[in-house]
Amino acid sequence: MTPSPLPYRIGFGEDAHRLAAGRPLILGGVPLPHAERGAVAHSDGDAVLHAVADALLSGLSLGDIGQHYPDTAAENAGLDSRVILTRCLDLVREGGYAPANVALVVTLDRPKLGPLRAEIAGSVAALLGLAETEVGLSFKTSEGLAPDHVQVRVTVLLAWVGG
Ligand code: C5P
Ligand code: MG
Repeated sequence: MTPSPLPYRIGFGEDAHRLAAGRPLILGGVPLPHAERGAVAHSDGDAVLHAVADALLSGLSLGDIGQHYPDTAAENAGLDSRVILTRCLDLVREGGYAPANVALVVTLDRPKLGPLRAEIAGSVAALLGLAETEVGLSFKTSEGLAPDHVQVRVTVLLAWVGG
């Protein structure tokens, strides 16, 4: 007998990228035009969307984005992370679940992200089909311990919607 689906499932994701001059910094689908440095990556290096995508996959035990989108594959070079996220969300929906809320911690020494909180939350919410109030965003510095990288941790709650 197939067990009945859990009413809720938690997903957890993490991503980090090294920062270097001459690279764009994009977080949650929002480009930060005044950032001095950006993410070194095979794709567009959006650590927020990569971590959210991994959180979605992990919630349904579907592996991780490296399995679905290997960074050794030429077709994934420069891939827009919004495309990755949307495809992962499709897998979650096909599995009968939908995101209920999401919580993110972004660790980055510079620049300050506070002024972009509403924009990043709105962008992530729109991509996940959530309200902005269902996206929790915390920004942290590394207190100088990791000035050369951006790191993102994400939990997502997935609710059974049938299917
Ligand atoms: O890391 P720390 O706790 O000292 O950060 C203090 C505050 O600075 C955070 O609570 C957050 O509101 C803000 N911050 C920010 N952008 C960052 C890092 C921190 O707005 N890149
Ligand atoms: Mg990444």
